[in-house]
Amino acid sequence: MTKKPLACVILAAGKGVRMKSKRPKVMNELLGWPMIKWLLESVRHLEPDRVIVVVGPGMDDLVQAVHPCEAVIQPQQDGTGSALKCAMNLLQRFTGDVLVLLGDTPLVSPETLWNLIQARRQESGIGISVLGTEVQNPTGYGRLLMDPEGNIAAIREEKDASPQEKMVRLINTGAFCMDGKRLERWLGSLTNRNAQKEYYITDLPEIAARDGYKTCVSVTFDADEVRGCNTRAELFALEKIAQRRMREHFLERGVTLQDPETVYFHFDTVLEEGVIVEPNVYFGPGVEVGEGTRIRAFSHIEGVKIGKNASVGPFARIRPGSELGDDVRIGNFVEIKKSKIGDRCKISHLGYVGDCEMGEDVNFGCGAITVNYDGFEKHTTIIGKGVMVGSNANLIAPLIIDDGAFIAAGSTITQNVPADALSVSRAKEEVRKGWAAIYRQRKTEKKQKKAS
Ligand code: UD1
Ligand code: CA
Repeated sequence: MTKKPLACVILAAGKGVRMKSKRPKVMNELLGWPMIKWLLESVRHLEPDRVIVVVGPGMDDLVQAVHPCEAVIQPQQDGTGSALKCAMNLLQRFTGDVLVLLGDTPLVSPETLWNLIQARRQESGIGISVLGTEVQNPTGYGRLLMDPEGNIAAIREEKDASPQEKMVRLINTGAFCMDGKRLERWLGSLTNRNAQKEYYITDLPEIAARDGYKTCVSVTFDADEVRGCNTRAELFALEKIAQRRMREHFLERGVTLQDPETVYFHFDTVLEEGVIVEPNVYFGPGVEVGEGTRIRAFSHIEGVKIGKNASVGPFARIRPGSELGDDVRIGNFVEIKKSKIGDRCKISHLGYVGDCEMGEDVNFGCGAITVNYDGFEKHTTIIGKGVMVGSNANLIAPLIIDDGAFIAAGSTITQNVPADALSVSRAKEEVRKGWAAIYRQRKTEKKQKKAS
């Protein structure tokens, strides 16, 4: 069977005035990833022949974000219908299906889109299939008004709807699949005779019907996946949905989330089977956690690959560019930045490790730090295998500490340390016998004299 040609057009020229933001609406992020990328990812699974994104003038960052998909500029934002016309300039003589999607409806699944395409293809007489869903509160959405044969009699926008039409809870999600052979002609019949004086894509089913074509609705029962996003409150609602999906995904994969709702993920977080995440953990972009590792409460983790059976936190901060080996122990109030930590290392309490390469089996004592910044540049600390760094040591980079060396607690180390050596750098210790007792007595006498 040969694959039927499919073009996908994504409408994203809207400025997003209701978001009160300078960036194009579809560049707003869900789980740290622009909305438009979510949609493109779903579309990719359909293997379309062409993907065209309609953008507004001057939206260069959006054009860049959708690359290598084609972008076409809609010079004036006078409606979803006119936006589609702009894309059709690139689709002349295209005779396959044209799938039209709204850039501000980013969470729709490939399966649902596929059902929409199949709905149009099921019968040659069907010119348009529209993705619909039933919602509790349809306010703001276009209503799908059906005729007794199951055709779409009309799609009525909120602003044009009568009180009776407003009662309809079957809504237009904005996704359409249309017969490319006819589309250009239908678009030619659009007018802007409506409350907003815009060319509405939603008038196309009526136009197709007048041209003798049937139309149909493909329904999704998951209203969450087709929620649109016009305001920041709605963006937040989508974020919640996307977070919930991510949590469900991990629970299904055998990850333990002790209090799922308090864990925040990014779109690219990877947690292997058997990972345990305690409450109140934040995963920033670029995190991979290996099998059996435990991320303990109140940790903030980004840009790091963590090995197997490790333990991180509570209250740990891992910053980008880091790699933690297997069986590593990172304890409370430890910050790690751009560092590679070897297998079985222990950095158990109150430390800072930045720009460091640490070999295996290092014990990095409480309060020890790498001093990686001289006020102008960052420098590297290299620590060999099996090194013991005593508590409260300052390792002034650039510095190399070779395998098996021992750094005495409280030392400030500025010179490289050879393998198996002891490096100690402290002020000379002095013990004055009886000094404290004499001191106390003198102070007490002074106080009594003052009082009398
Ligand atoms: C639209 C639908 C409505 C549907 C709802 C679903 C129309 C007329 N209305 O309403 O029936 O229930 O989506 O969420 O289609 N855009 C352009 N160029 C324009 C105008 C809009 O590219 O000139 C893009 C926007 O960037 C946006 C999308 O089209 O991504 C939808 O536009 P929007 O203004 O948000 O439409 P709604 O009022 O939400
Ligand atoms: Ca919208």
